[in-house]
Amino acid sequence: MKYTDLNTPMRTIMTPGPVEVDPRVLRSMSTPIVGQFDPAFTNIMNEVMEMLREVFQTNNKWAFPVDGTSRSGIEALLCSIIEKGDKVLIPIFGRFGYLLTEICERYGADVHTIECAWGEVFDQQDIIDEIDKVEPKILALVHGETSTGCMQPLDKIGPACRKAGTLMIVDAVASIGGVNIKVDEWMIDAVIGGTQKCLSVPAGMAPITYNDRVEDIVQQRKKVELGISTNEDKQRELNRSLSFIQSNYLDISMLQDYWSPRRLNHHTEATSMLYALREGLRIILEEGLEQRFNRHLFHEQALITGIEAMGLELFGDRSAKLPTVTCIKVPTGIDSELVRSMLLQQFGIEIAKSFGPLEGKIWRIGTMGYSCRKENVLFVLGALEATLLYHHADIKPGKATTAALDFYTQNIQPSVSVV
Ligand SMILES: Cc1ncc(COP(=O)(O)O)c(C=O)c1O
Repeated sequence: MKYTDLNTPMRTIMTPGPVEVDPRVLRSMSTPIVGQFDPAFTNIMNEVMEMLREVFQTNNKWAFPVDGTSRSGIEALLCSIIEKGDKVLIPIFGRFGYLLTEICERYGADVHTIECAWGEVFDQQDIIDEIDKVEPKILALVHGETSTGCMQPLDKIGPACRKAGTLMIVDAVASIGGVNIKVDEWMIDAVIGGTQKCLSVPAGMAPITYNDRVEDIVQQRKKVELGISTNEDKQRELNRSLSFIQSNYLDISMLQDYWSPRRLNHHTEATSMLYALREGLRIILEEGLEQRFNRHLFHEQALITGIEAMGLELFGDRSAKLPTVTCIKVPTGIDSELVRSMLLQQFGIEIAKSFGPLEGKIWRIGTMGYSCRKENVLFVLGALEATLLYHHADIKPGKATTAALDFYTQNIQPSVSVV
């Protein structure tokens, strides 16, 4: 047989996603398949909705996963809300702001952007001033920008959006389950999370939640759709009209009908992924949200202590740092890709590079979900130091792991459930 058994190498994954999957989640994925309308399965769907509400810290009626990677959730929400010509304001502070822009443009939005330097975030008041100026129907923005390791404060923007009649849509793909995001308290209308990052579930689902303000728009568009969809010509005409939701797969009105007690058939649900998400969410709730956020901060601090003891410099505004991603400037004269390659080939450790203006200039180390553990932090610090010394980098030898060990022995770990 030309093709051998599947045999992937064991890796220590310290990227900003995908990260290591909790073994409990992997085990759950081998649970036998049941049909998508089997009560045994619809009960699992209901449990997942309940657990998602807790993780999103919301009382929203709607919280469910869209099948597809995180951008499927982003696109589902945006395409279900945006009608041609709608004004959308997008503050951009890294690569994923451009993703939002690109998606909104595809659905015919009149997109307005503001940008700040990569490595910085916006003053909330600047975004609020721009909302007053542009008067957008939608504000779409990223919470944790994985490309720069920065986190945009959001708490004041939601109330301003409410006042202005603007919908606030947040990409929390890199932060959900690792960093506090208070959906209801911060008055966010819709949020998209990612599975392959702080939830430590494989890529393939995008948990979303949205409130009545979003649902009202979606239902309104659906009424138009149902009203004249009896004849094909009219349907085609409607497809070209302003109001029709331009996707079948990602139409929130159809997805929510499937997730409602009516269980109207839409797609075939991704059974094993739902098992995985259920277990990932159960693990989070067992650990406790606050404990989990503190664990991410704790290991981030240990990592930073070791990086700085080595004499390396962090990239980006420290007051805006995303706790789950640490960006490190590549020292002068060092080829960033040679270092990454040695880490992978010799140590089995994967760290990430960045994009666009930061490509080759920084490394990104993720401390997310199941990957966010003491042995991973110590291992990556030791291996990075050895690799840099091998490449004759000007760093302080013998300091990184010792400094992190000092940190670990002098500070109490906030969580007992994850070592
Ligand atoms: C902040 C953010 N948004 C969106 C995405 C897109 O997610 P996916 O690749 O799962 O579609 C990513 C992926 O890394 C991300 O980090």
